[in-house]
Amino acid sequence: MNWNKQNPYLAKITSKKLLSGKQSNKEVFHYEISLGDSGITYQPGDSIGIFPINNSTLVRAIINRLQINPEYTPEGYNLNIYDLLEKKFEILTPTNRLIKFVNDNINHNALNHSLTSKNKNILMDFKYGKDVLDFMNLDQNLKFDVLHFLTLLKPLQHRAYSIASSNLVFKNSVHLTVSTQRWQKKTRNYGGVCTTFLSDNCELGDKVKIFLIPNKLFKLPDDQNKPIIMIGPGTGLAPFLSFIQERKYLKSDGKNWLFFGAQTKKNDFIYEDQISNFVEEKILNNLDTAFSRDQDNKIYVQDKIYERSNEFFQWLKNGAIIYICGDAQKMAKDVELTIIKLISKELKCDDKKALEYLKMLKKEKRYLLDVY
Ligand SMILES: Cc1cc2nc3c(=O)[nH]c(=O)nc-3n(C[C@H](O)[C@H](O)[C@H](O)COP(=O)(O)OP(=O)(O)OC[C@H]3O[C@@H](n4cnc5c(N)ncnc54)[C@H](O)[C@@H]3O)c2cc1C
Ligand SMILES: NC(=O)c1ccc[n+]([C@@H]2O[C@H](COP(=O)([O-])OP(=O)(O)OC[C@H]3O[C@@H](n4cnc5c(N)ncnc54)[C@H](OP(=O)(O)O)[C@@H]3O)[C@@H](O)[C@H]2O)c1
Repeated sequence: MNWNKQNPYLAKITSKKLLSGKQSNKEVFHYEISLGDSGITYQPGDSIGIFPINNSTLVRAIINRLQINPEYTPEGYNLNIYDLLEKKFEILTPTNRLIKFVNDNINHNALNHSLTSKNKNILMDFKYGKDVLDFMNLDQNLKFDVLHFLTLLKPLQHRAYSIASSNLVFKNSVHLTVSTQRWQKKTRNYGGVCTTFLSDNCELGDKVKIFLIPNKLFKLPDDQNKPIIMIGPGTGLAPFLSFIQERKYLKSDGKNWLFFGAQTKKNDFIYEDQISNFVEEKILNNLDTAFSRDQDNKIYVQDKIYERSNEFFQWLKNGAIIYICGDAQKMAKDVELTIIKLISKELKCDDKKALEYLKMLKKEKRYLLDVY
């Protein structure tokens, strides 16, 4: 059977463990999902797509706001409004269409200002943390026609998660590392659709709709002797567990260097035992950790990289491939700037030359990103 986005496989959750400590600001789970009789096989660097369903409290709150019966089936649909909002539409993150509709039909100075201002940050700030229901509630007098309301929503999408296991080691399962997204405001609690679906709704034995998302670029090199440098703070660590497990299984000779970052060693050093074992077994030749909140000044992975400039550059000269995984907004950009600074220090050249060196790495597919 060909399982894909249109035809996802219904896979059983066989393990669910909280990785983050009691005092962590994060809630990071390790999930194991059985591939059963699907025949799905994967490579390090691939991801799994998961189709979530929406939070039932939010579904009911939107139905109340629409002032309709949950059993009501809108014309042209074959599901009732409850099922449509639970399974078919994104009801957390508002679309631009919805925001525009609200703005066009109410008098709300701050919203109007944010939409008309040339400064895009004002709109970003206004939208930050607000969901569909918040926009509907900007004016309680605003009426929504159900059919029209549905046209203001996007279809519910899958979410991607980097695979944190090697298929050679775990023949019939896939492991994921998922950070549950939650935030609060005065009157409400919010949660990311898929991460809270997994953490709050899914128990052992439950089934979720999944499909494989192959990644042709973010791959281990065919050459088992090539050194690799993996930079993965937070959940960015996930694919590197797969990389290291695979290299261990294959007894690859290539050297492996991991940079991991998290807020605190005590509560956020996820997979510490597995990583320590890799170090003891000398699978991981170098491990550098940056615990940002264990001291007064923040220490990030890029600070550790810069501290190790000389050796880092030696590895590059020996043909190492750099892999970066995790936050796209800030981390990946800051790490890149540090690598440019490191190259210019080691080559004793200006930033322009260092940038050319980085371009060469990118061209040779030795600077690979999987960021989100
Ligand atoms: C290739 C790839 C691999 C990935 N791998 C992983 C992985 O291994 N592990 C992992 O955890 N994630 C991973 N992700 C991210 C993952 O796909 C989801 O984007 C993430 O889990 C959030 O999904 P969600 O449905 O819970 O949140 P959504 O419903 O999509 O909501 C996310 C939105 O919520 C809002 N939000 C979130 N937190 C806050 C806050 N504190 N305050 C205000 N607003 C907030 C933001 O607007 C944010 O855009 C990966 C993404 C990609 C593309
Ligand atoms: N697009 C999405 O849907 C999505 C999904 C998941 C995560 N994310 C985002 O990805 C980021 C990482 O999330 P996570 O939970 O995996 O990791 P995390 O635990 O939030 O962060 C890991 C480590 O990276 C540090 N860090 C913060 N800013 C950094 C920077 N500019 N450069 C280097 N390190 C930095 C953190 O330090 P401090 O916290 O102490 O500053 C922490 O020590 C978060 O910002 C999150 O919002 C986005």
